[in-house]
Amino acid sequence: MHKDCKEILFSLEDIVTRCEELGQQINHDYEGKRPLFIGLLNGSVPFLAELCKHIDLDMEYTFMQVSSYKGTQSSDLNITKDLGVDVSQRDLLIIEDIIDTGKTLKTVKELLLARGARSVKIVTLLDKKEARTHSIEADYVGFDIANQFVIGFGLDFDQKYRQLPYVGILKEECYK
Ligand code: IMP
Ligand code: MG
Repeated sequence: MHKDCKEILFSLEDIVTRCEELGQQINHDYEGKRPLFIGLLNGSVPFLAELCKHIDLDMEYTFMQVSSYKGTQSSDLNITKDLGVDVSQRDLLIIEDIIDTGKTLKTVKELLLARGARSVKIVTLLDKKEARTHSIEADYVGFDIANQFVIGFGLDFDQKYRQLPYVGILKEECYK
């Protein structure tokens, strides 16, 4: 375990098993469809890579990067890397590492619907339901967690720890 990690919440084995289960649900729900997975950079990369291994559909994936201005009430979202594909009439599945306030996903979902997507669903590895300030729910959730700061498997603190092959709690002395 990394020295800055207080406790492991989900091991690699836990995550792989959960991705298998989510994959089965998605395979069932999208049977006969050709979904486009949209990973939100940078945090979704390890989760998207693991989840895709369990998808048995004619699928594609691409990425988008957004940054939101935390601490403001506005719904401003900065698109730092946009999609290079036309999403009209497509069935989209947004892949995210974690839903916290819900601001990012609410804004991205509305944007993709406004661009003419046929459907937009959300898959998140982690869900901090207690922290929600915007009304948005994921369609598929890996694990629910309490309102605490986690790192690993794509999740960072100050861009660090994304490479850890597990999700853990960051020691308080590392962010205070
Ligand atoms: P939201 O717009 O508040 O839902 O923010 C979601 C984004 O905040 C995620 O994509 C993460 O980048 C970041 N985030 C929220 N909670 C955590 C955490 O516990 N660890 C690392 N990043 C987090
Ligand atoms: Mg993120």
